[in-house]
Amino acid sequence: MERPPIITLDGPAGSGKSTTAREVARRLGFRHLDSGALYRALTFALLSAGIREEEWPLLPQEAFDRFRIWLRPSGPRFQVLLGDRLLEEELRTPEVTARVSPLSALPAVRAWLLEAQRQAGREGALVADGRDMGTVVFPDAEVKIFLTADLKERAFRRFLERQDRRPSEEELEEEARNIRERDERDSSRSVAPLKKAEGAMEVDTSDLTFEAQVGVIINHVKVLTRG
Ligand code: CDP
Repeated sequence: MERPPIITLDGPAGSGKSTTAREVARRLGFRHLDSGALYRALTFALLSAGIREEEWPLLPQEAFDRFRIWLRPSGPRFQVLLGDRLLEEELRTPEVTARVSPLSALPAVRAWLLEAQRQAGREGALVADGRDMGTVVFPDAEVKIFLTADLKERAFRRFLERQDRRPSEEELEEEARNIRERDERDSSRSVAPLKKAEGAMEVDTSDLTFEAQVGVIINHVKVLTRG
């Protein structure tokens, strides 16, 4: 193997991909790429520019260049920038979350973001999380993981993460509805749909502690890369 490995983590919303990927990367001394942040950044940029959603599907790839969205390596992760503005919590607002999935289904959007993601993996030593990391962006990745969890469990975790308190029964149902809608969209689109990559190991985290799920993945990485 000429370069250090690439590890992909794909899965539905709220399955814990990003937090898991970050910790796996930390333990291995790799860098973490949260590819969803790029799709969120473009959603944020389009909303901020006041471009109406009806027009998004009509935009050619070149129309996105003006936003100057790019990835900056920064210690254990890649930061997402819009020109020289670092994007953080603005990527996770309900407005962005509600619109990111339809935007991500557009072929021009996916094509436009592909190169930046591949560049991030050029030297290996990467843990990349998203929906199509193992299927499209890094099909030759040394280790592929597909992370799942029950819908209710994912909705619960997502709510807790955002509000820092337990949801009521109605709140939990609403969260679950939003997540299911997004998953269905992400799984049914024609370009790079969310699905388990060939050869990926599926890890159902519904009944695993965070420590255990990270452990399972690290072990699998060690077995496959003899690291
Ligand atoms: O964190 P969460 O799972 O809620 O979402 P995310 O990873 O930030 O991704 C947000 C949205 O971006 C997803 O629902 C997908 O529509 C899209 N996405 C994608 O299409 N392909 C990726 N590789 C990553 C995200």
